Amino acid sequence: MPRPAIDLFHETFGTTPRSAASAPGRVNLIGEHTDYNGGPVLPIAIPARTTAAVGPPRSWVAYLAGVLRELWSLEVVPPNGSARIAVASDLPVGAGLASSAALAVAVAKALAPNLKARQIAGVAFRAEHDHVGVHCGVMDQTIAALGRRDHALLVECASLEATQIPFGARLLLVDTGKRHDLSTGGLNARRAECEEAVKRLKIELPELAWLASWPAEWLLRLKRALPEPLRSRAVHVVSETARARFAAQLLAQRKLKQFGRLLYESHESCRRLYDCSSPELDTVVGAAKRAGALGARLTGAGWGGAAIVLVNKTDKKTIPAIQRAYERAYGKTPPISEVQASAGAHVERL
Ligand code: GLA
Repeated sequence: MPRPAIDLFHETFGTTPRSAASAPGRVNLIGEHTDYNGGPVLPIAIPARTTAAVGPPRSWVAYLAGVLRELWSLEVVPPNGSARIAVASDLPVGAGLASSAALAVAVAKALAPNLKARQIAGVAFRAEHDHVGVHCGVMDQTIAALGRRDHALLVECASLEATQIPFGARLLLVDTGKRHDLSTGGLNARRAECEEAVKRLKIELPELAWLASWPAEWLLRLKRALPEPLRSRAVHVVSETARARFAAQLLAQRKLKQFGRLLYESHESCRRLYDCSSPELDTVVGAAKRAGALGARLTGAGWGGAAIVLVNKTDKKTIPAIQRAYERAYGKTPPISEVQASAGAHVERL
């Protein structure tokens, strides 16, 4: 849906934009709260996207200052450069689908179409992390920039190694309608807990750089070394790291049943140990499981937002089962859509 931003630019500024680019939202299949702990994530880009149409302005505008400042420091837009920007999106904000990363990536790509996808991801990450102050990891910007149609992307967030894995399964997206705001939400608090855990674990293992690098076979030692709630947070990160890597292998071997089981386990770990679920998300995942769906879990930071549900191609029971359970609990039907793994950021034709 690139037209609205391009048309909006026309209507607002009375001229054609110099360029336009779009970037998608994402759902994360597995590997939650592992990215800023140096572990793996396995997201797909979704069809909903944000488009930015850009052109030079008549006056100096400091809009999306983070992206602009990063591009200035890379010297890909002129110093003191300025921009007119029109943005349109079909990505819901605060639904856990990484709308802020899609915005930053789309604007960066439109302003600097010749930068490599990884550089675009870096610019957008630093804009959100350093300038806006959300202590996120690199997942959202990386998948928005590097996503590929019909593929999930395994990103090892310590080394930034990225591997495309074919993904053609049937995936439902259930929006709980409960919105979160990451700039004020629990993400920064969780990240601080993880950093505190690493500080304490360094007494046991001085070379430990990332929480996700703690050896999975030393869980007992980790549990002894940490008080609650750091213990629960760290057990989640270390076990989720192993789960996400195993899940990526299963996906590559097309073992969807086993893959789906790991999604349920991941949700349980997010709920019990990382304490980032919500009653609405638990209602969706519980109903999906009882209906026989292959797997289900919250996706993204949690505390509301969306859940993903993996179903067989022929499944007809899961959607009505989720709708019934949700209606019973909350008196309304949640929007449910099917999502395909989609393309990452690209330049749009004007
Ligand atoms: C948010 C952050 C991501 C990641 C997820 C949790 O979406 O922006 O970097 O940390 O939460 O996995």
